[in-house]
Amino acid sequence: MIIEPRIRGFICLTTHPKGCEQNVINQINYVKSKNNPKGTQKALIIGASTGFGLASRITSAFGSGASTLGVYFEKPPAAGKPASAGWYNTAAFEKQAHEAGLYAKSINGDAFSDEIKQKTIDLIKADLGQVDLVIYSLASPRRTNPKTGITHNSVLKPIGEVFSNKTVDFHTGVVSEISINPANEEEIANTVAVMGGEDWQFWINDLKAAGVLADGALTVAYSYIGPAVTEKVYRKGTIGRAKDHLEATAKHISEQLKDINGKALVSVNKALVTQASSAIPVIPLYISLLYKIMKEEGIHEGCIEQIQRLFEQRLYTGGDIPTDAEGRVRVDDWEMREDVQAKVAELWLQSTTETLPQLGDLKGYRADFMNLFGFEVPGVNYQEDVDEMVAIPGLV
Ligand code: NAD
Ligand code: NA
Repeated sequence: MIIEPRIRGFICLTTHPKGCEQNVINQINYVKSKNNPKGTQKALIIGASTGFGLASRITSAFGSGASTLGVYFEKPPAAGKPASAGWYNTAAFEKQAHEAGLYAKSINGDAFSDEIKQKTIDLIKADLGQVDLVIYSLASPRRTNPKTGITHNSVLKPIGEVFSNKTVDFHTGVVSEISINPANEEEIANTVAVMGGEDWQFWINDLKAAGVLADGALTVAYSYIGPAVTEKVYRKGTIGRAKDHLEATAKHISEQLKDINGKALVSVNKALVTQASSAIPVIPLYISLLYKIMKEEGIHEGCIEQIQRLFEQRLYTGGDIPTDAEGRVRVDDWEMREDVQAKVAELWLQSTTETLPQLGDLKGYRADFMNLFGFEVPGVNYQEDVDEMVAIPGLV
């Protein structure tokens, strides 16, 4: 079929298998062009199909030659209906990995469930014995806690007071004022239940009890901090509470892994266009200004550049892993540079519907958004008939 983008708000209802494949190949080629450390040999990536998780899987496999096991939740294709992007990404990744002689298998299902955790453990036992790296990179609006059966929904709201600021509709370029009412206690608790560290903890409890974590195993989850302009809705809002919980969980897991010389870390990553971040108010305006400045300075990175740098220059240098005073790994260092943030703050005040096309990188934002779904990828012929019924070679 010939597949065209059909956009509805923060998502695109269609995806392009060839575009997704090309995105993955581009990321593989980027990693191969770098000087990679030996790093991981057997990696479990939870949230492996898009964004930072996919980049972690690619870096593990094509940077370190690791066997990789991916867990994700993606929609398979049906005749005339393309799969979700992460499906095609994974199909492309596993095809490339297998061609390179690398072990790559995956599990499609709800990572929050006990069932998928058990299935993952069984597969590790059968094929790999143990893993030395566990990347935790889930982003989800809801989670059913397998112990209670309760489904929690997250919200993106400030805490304590109404938040008013500018935002942009990145499709139309219209800059407007928005006001978001503060969350109540229940909404805060639900957001922490979805995006906090509880499920990461459940994973590590089960993996450790099953004896599938290697001596010296490392587990890393991803977090975000960001600037003053987004603080009230992000870091000091409901999602920030969840990230606080995630970071506290890292300390707890590190204690728990001491007897196997293991360690848990949170890496604070840069703001990037992903399906998750497009839905957060105010963030798209911030990202479009940030992209413009970081590209001008020659310090712009996407997911793959971030994660390759995380592995090479933070996690696997052979020495101690550098962290901030709170024990967090930082690869948001270039985003948070004082000169970059001063420039963002200045442009923020000047941003209007009329000025944003010059001040910000709306074009880059939109292109990245389309790329998430495999559209507008250079070198792909979108006039060509493509087979939507792509299978994932290592799907268990
Ligand atoms: P993403 O939406 O690209 O990836 C989410 C992954 O989780 C996908 O592989 C998806 O299949 C999987 N997933 C979601 N629900 C699942 C479920 N129930 N079971 C199994 N798999 C499931 O998101 P992302 O932006 O790469 O975010 C990953 C992490 O990085 C999050 O913790 C996020 O907060 C963090 N982070 C994001 C940014 C950013 O700007 N995007 C910046 C810093 C940190
Ligand atoms: Na991810």
